[in-house]
Amino acid sequence: MSTLSRCNNVNDLRKLAKRRLPRAMFHYIDGGADDEVTLRRNTVAFEDYELQPSFLNPVDQINTRINLFRKELHIPFFIAPTGMSRLFHHTKENAVARAAAKFGTVYTLSTMGTASLEEIAEETDGLKMFQIYILKDRGLTKEFVSRCKAANYDALCLTVDVPLAGNRERDKVTGMTMPPRFTLKSLFSFAMHPRWSFNLLVHPDFRLANVVHRVDALSNSPMSLIEYVNSQFDRTVSWEDVAWLIQEWNGPFVIKGLLTADDAIKAKDVGASAIMISNHGGRQLDGTPAPIDCISSMREAVGNDLELIVDGGIRRGTHIIKALALGADAVSIGKAYLYGLAAGGQKGVELALQMLRNELERDMALLGVSSIKQLSSKYIRKR
Ligand code: LAC
Repeated sequence: MSTLSRCNNVNDLRKLAKRRLPRAMFHYIDGGADDEVTLRRNTVAFEDYELQPSFLNPVDQINTRINLFRKELHIPFFIAPTGMSRLFHHTKENAVARAAAKFGTVYTLSTMGTASLEEIAEETDGLKMFQIYILKDRGLTKEFVSRCKAANYDALCLTVDVPLAGNRERDKVTGMTMPPRFTLKSLFSFAMHPRWSFNLLVHPDFRLANVVHRVDALSNSPMSLIEYVNSQFDRTVSWEDVAWLIQEWNGPFVIKGLLTADDAIKAKDVGASAIMISNHGGRQLDGTPAPIDCISSMREAVGNDLELIVDGGIRRGTHIIKALALGADAVSIGKAYLYGLAAGGQKGVELALQMLRNELERDMALLGVSSIKQLSSKYIRKR
């Protein structure tokens, strides 16, 4: 896959990303924790479900719109929060936010982003969510809420599955740091990727832009992500903190990283409006189930009171359809768009979104449904 125009699917974008990026950056996107069982399972688990088409229904008009966070999205999938986009392309988060806006969907900026939340708000009029990690500096959490209000964010997301960093062994092998460290090994990999390395020198803005004014650990010297997370993240975060944050924000609020019916009920009781069913793309606790396998029990537990978003392993239009048919309201994509970003900046992200939208529209027609709200359990069965 030498160019974007030769890519037919998300997996092709992955191959192109692998060619374009120095090893450490590619494996940071691509990898998971421990033996990567959960990472692999996230995508493979979709194969345990079969679609049951219903023919002779008019499918000349396909409507992919949904409502989420009290807003209308043109497609039922959106950009999940992922850290440090500058590592993968010099146009960083800004390019991704512009692509999402073009497709009428939500862009989520991570606490670990390399663009500030204000910068993203200025970049686009599109729908936007900010993802919060509660760091030891608790004042920062309060600050995020007021900054997001001032910048008119549509929703807030709290990620709860990172009390400490998962064991990402690929990062240890490659020596991945932020900002990138110049060692003999990395210099060789940089030399093999001249385009990326040229932009490293021309656009050296590797900053965790949302936290750098208070948590400047990274500005002193390059650090591995594991070191950073383990030194800055607050391991004492509890449901009381979530309740407090929900009250402070007083708007659409997503808890990201839940996998069980019990936690879904707690999320409902505490006043969240949505859950992102997620195992952090297989990057945290290895051995957790694939999100697709958790939807039914969580939906049963909370009824229609909460919006459920499935995050993990989505690479195909049929994956989106399966998640929605099992009871999710929307899905979010992380790696799928990051491969596009690495492969070709904004154009690459747009291509990832375009591929998934085309697949979704075609597959809906083949399944015999013309709008997302028709998708239900009658269209899916466990193998
Ligand atoms: C990750 C965390 C930091 O790298 O979100 O997965």
